Amino acid sequence: MTFVVTENCIKCKYTDCVEVCPVDCFHEGPNFLAIDPDECIDCARCEPECPAEAIFAEDDVPKEQQLFIALNAELCAGWPVITVQKPAPPDAAEWDGKPDKLKLLER
Ligand code: SF4
Ligand code: F3S
Repeated sequence: MTFVVTENCIKCKYTDCVEVCPVDCFHEGPNFLAIDPDECIDCARCEPECPAEAIFAEDDVPKEQQLFIALNAELCAGWPVITVQKPAPPDAAEWDGKPDKLKLLER
């Protein structure tokens, strides 16, 4: 199994998650992070660290977010690894919880 970053990370990108990952499997895009499912060891440390509650175990991903399972795998392949937290976007709090953010995902 793997853990999966879902829609609410888009434009929030708090990056608290990357600090706790023991295997450095987060990859950074312009406004979203993706977990490499081939590297994730299912340790569950990242899930409680996300202020946006955007990380789920693969088996717990909500039905309407299931497309993010394949999307994490696809996106991480082309994005660099991130291991150190950085400041969130200045408007992160405004985007937290907003619906329909998938169309705003930058690749
Ligand atoms: Fe990293 Fe563990 Fe989260 Fe997987 S579950 S992404 S190994 S912190
Ligand atoms: Fe995104 Fe949450 Fe990490 S908002 S960058 S999954 S801490």
